Amino acid sequence: MTAPAEPTADELLGRIRVQGGVPRHVAIIMDGNGRWARERLMPRPYGHRSGMKAVRDVVEGAVESGLEVLSLFAFSQENWQRPPVEITALMSLLEEYIAREADELRDRGVRVRILGDLDRLTPAAASAVNRVVAETEHNDRLRLNLFISYGGRAELVRAAQLLARDAQAGRLVPDEITEADFQRRLYTADCPDPDLLIRTSGEQRISNFLLWQMAYTELFISPVLWPDFGRRELYEAILDYLNRERRFGRVSA
Ligand code: IPE
Ligand code: IPE
Ligand code: MG
Repeated sequence: MTAPAEPTADELLGRIRVQGGVPRHVAIIMDGNGRWARERLMPRPYGHRSGMKAVRDVVEGAVESGLEVLSLFAFSQENWQRPPVEITALMSLLEEYIAREADELRDRGVRVRILGDLDRLTPAAASAVNRVVAETEHNDRLRLNLFISYGGRAELVRAAQLLARDAQAGRLVPDEITEADFQRRLYTADCPDPDLLIRTSGEQRISNFLLWQMAYTELFISPVLWPDFGRRELYEAILDYLNRERRFGRVSA
């Protein structure tokens, strides 16, 4: 007797549609490109290039499954400490990704936003980024947040600075600052918090991603290295999420 065949991506998508209640917002820490390259005795940028294909497939999967927001952690503030050759390769891959995908993202109804400290990008990367943001700003099928040069703590410090400025200018009373006031000063001000965080490559940590926003996010650690991740793996994570009970500190219904 042969083992039952693994369900295809389309079968998994069908199950998601039957179950209903898809997460509004999925965030992904795309990790494992370097190890994927090393397994093939190739330099790390080879892994990053292969990771670009995974991004394409996962974005399509997000559109198909009806997510509202997909947040991808592409480059952290701490990643600036990597060797210059790797940083250069990543920045040129970012430009290449936008040059290749901008038209299709626009036509598929994806609205792209770039979140992070963009002052540190090269002028070429910054102008590529600004172009795709402007070209897709009227889309509303899926919101794609690309986190680049992003750190969760830096985002919180920035929000604190904005609050302090407003208080100093008399627009806010310090003792009356609410969680909502704080939230409105984050990069993600107009997004729901992530319902589900996926981290690939088996690492079990947050690595300074969305510290405020993930207060009640469900975590899914996938052993798959990012270049091997695709819509099928996204659907598996969503199905796992659909079978969880979220309590938000309360007791079961
Ligand atoms: C993720 O893959 C991509 C970035 C952080 C830019 P890594 O480059 O971290 O790959 P590993 O973790 O070394 O395998
Ligand atoms: C997190 O991955 C950042 C991104 C995926 C962009 P890292 O590979 O930089 O994280 P650590 O160093 O393993 O925590
Ligand atoms: Mg890594």
